[in-house]
Amino acid sequence: MHFFFVNMLILFLLSPFISYALDDENCLLCHKYRTLSRIDEKGKSRIYYINDSLFHSSVHGRVKCSECHSGITKIPHEENTKVNCLNECHITEPTEDKRFSHKNVEDAIMNSVHNNKYPLLRNANSDFFPKCTDCHNNPLFKPIQIFKDITDEGQSPKALARCNLCHKDTKFIKYFYNHVSHRLHASKNNKEIVRMCERCHANNEMLSKHKLKNAIATYKDTFHGKAAEFDYKGSPDCIDCHVKENESAHSIRSYKDPNSSIYSKDRWKTCAKTGCHPDAKPAIGGVRMHVVINKDLYPYEYYTALGFTALTLGAYFPLAILLILELIREIFPNIKRRK
Ligand code: HEC
Ligand code: HEC
Ligand code: HEC
Ligand code: HEC
Ligand code: HEC
Ligand code: HEC
Repeated sequence: MHFFFVNMLILFLLSPFISYALDDENCLLCHKYRTLSRIDEKGKSRIYYINDSLFHSSVHGRVKCSECHSGITKIPHEENTKVNCLNECHITEPTEDKRFSHKNVEDAIMNSVHNNKYPLLRNANSDFFPKCTDCHNNPLFKPIQIFKDITDEGQSPKALARCNLCHKDTKFIKYFYNHVSHRLHASKNNKEIVRMCERCHANNEMLSKHKLKNAIATYKDTFHGKAAEFDYKGSPDCIDCHVKENESAHSIRSYKDPNSSIYSKDRWKTCAKTGCHPDAKPAIGGVRMHVVINKDLYPYEYYTALGFTALTLGAYFPLAILLILELIREIFPNIKRRK
C-alpha cells in the first residue's frame, strides 16, 4: 500500500504534463508507467505496466479494459480481481448482431475431458482442470507473409490500399485486415501446442493425482515428436490426433469415449487424415502412442525393449573387452602372464 501512495503522488505531480493515450476509460493514465509494479505478499513480482501499442496490436486490442477487468470499479482498486473470459463485450459479431462472448468455447470445453463433470474422468476432484489462461495469452496479430511490404506495425500498405477503395475508415480497415489475415495461418506451431499441454501433462503431481502417463515425454519419444522437435511441419501435434477434423481445438475427449478422435475402433480414421497416412487401414488402429516401458502396462513393448537392451549390451561388452586386449597386445607386444 505504501508503494501505491508513492506512485499516486508522483502521478499527481506529473499529471499536468501527461499526454493522454487514446483510451476512453483512462486506465493507461496510470498503467502506461513501466515502473508500476511491486512484490506481492507471496514474494512474486507483479507488473502492472501495459504497453499501449502492443496491447492495441493484439487480438483483444478493441476490447475495453473494464470489459475483461469487470471487477475493477473504483480507484484505488480492490486487489485480486480475477478476469472472467466469458464476459460479454461491446463488440458485436456482424453476422449475428449480438454482443460477443466466448460462450461457444465454454460449450466445447463442457463437452470435453477438460472439465470436472465429464463422465470418464479418473479423478474429478482436483484443481488441475485448465482455465482459459492456462492455455492462452493475448497474442499479437500476425500478418500474412505473401505480402512482402509489411510495416513494423505488421500491416501491408499494399493490401490495405485495396480495402481503401471502398472502405474509408482506416481504423476499421486495419482492424479487419489484421483480424482476417491473423487467422489465415495456424496461430501456433507444433512446439507451441506441446508447451500448452506440458504444464499439466508433464507435471508429476497432476499425473499421479489423475493416474495418467506422461504424455509429453512419451510423445517426444515417438517419430512424430522427434519430427516436431526438428520443425518438420507435417508432423502431428497433440491437437491433430486428439481432436476430430472440423471440431474446435477444445473438443478433446478421453480415448475411452466413443466420440473421441482416437476411440480404438475409429482410431485409424484419424491416422488416415489427408496429409498423414491416407492409405491407413483399420489395423493401424491398434497403434498406441504414449508407451512407457512398464512390464504391467505394456508387456510386449517391455520385453522387446529388454531384448534390445540385452542385445546391445551383449554385443558391446565382449567387443569392448576384445578391443582392450588387442590394445594391450599392441602396446606391450612381448607381455607374458608367466615368466
Ligand atoms: C481480453 C481481456 C483483457 C483485456 C481487454 C485487458 N486485460 Fe488486463 N488482464 C487480463 C487477464 C486474463 C490478465 C491476467 C490476470 C488474471 O487472470 O486475472 C490480465 C492482467 C492485467 C494486469 C496485471 C494484474 C496482475 O494481477 O498482475 C493489469 C495491470 C491489467 N491486466 C490491466 C489492463 C489494462 C489497463 C487494460 C486496458 C488497456 C487491460 N488490462 C485489458 C485480461 C484482459
Ligand atoms: C489512478 C491510477 C490508476 C488508474 C486510473 C487505474 N489503475 Fe489499475 N492500478 C493502479 C495501481 C497503482 C495498481 C497497483 C495496486 C497495488 O497492488 O498496489 C493497479 C492495479 C491494477 C490491477 C491489478 C489488481 C490486482 O489484482 O492486484 C488491474 C487488473 C488494474 N489495475 C486494472 C485497471 C483498469 C482496468 C483500469 C481502468 C478502468 C485501471 N486499472 C485504472 C493504478 C491505476
Ligand atoms: C487445454 C488448453 C486450452 C484451454 C483450456 C482453452 N483453449 Fe482455446 N485453444 C486451444 C488450442 C490448442 C487452440 C487452437 C490452437 C491455435 O491455433 O491457437 C485454441 C483456440 C482458441 C481460439 C481461437 C478459435 C479456435 O477455436 O481456433 C479461441 C477464441 C479460444 N481458444 C478461446 C478460449 C477460451 C475463451 C477458453 C476458456 C473458456 C479457452 N480457449 C480454453 C487450447 C485451449
Ligand atoms: C469493392 C469494394 C470493397 C473492397 C475493395 C473491400 N470491401 Fe469490404 N465490404 C464492401 C461492401 C460493399 C461490404 C458490405 C457487404 C455486404 O454487406 O454484403 C463490405 C463488408 C466488409 C466487412 C463486413 C462488415 C460488417 O460489419 O458486416 C468487412 C469486415 C470488410 N468489408 C473488410 C474489408 C477489408 C479488410 C478489405 C481489404 C482487404 C475490404 N473489405 C475490401 C466493399 C469492399
Ligand atoms: C491445467 C491443466 C491441463 C492442461 C494445461 C491440459 N490438460 Fe489435458 N487433462 C487435464 C486433466 C485434469 C485431465 C483429466 C484426467 C482425468 O482425471 O481423467 C486431462 C485429460 C486429458 C486427456 C484425456 C486422457 C484420457 O483419459 O484419454 C487428453 C487427451 C488431454 N488431457 C489432452 C490435453 C492436450 C492436448 C492439452 C494441450 C492442448 C492439455 N490436455 C492441456 C489437465 C490439463
Ligand atoms: C499420433 C497421434 C497422437 C499424438 C501426436 C498425441 N497423442 Fe495422445 N494419445 C493418442 C492415442 C492413440 C492415445 C490412446 C492411448 C495410448 O496410445 O496410450 C492417446 C492417449 C493420450 C492420453 C491418455 C494417456 C493415459 O495415461 O491413459 C493423454 C493424456 C494424451 N494422449 C495427451 C496427449 C498430449 C498432451 C499430446 C501432445 C504432446 C498427445 N497426446 C499427442 C494419440 C496421440
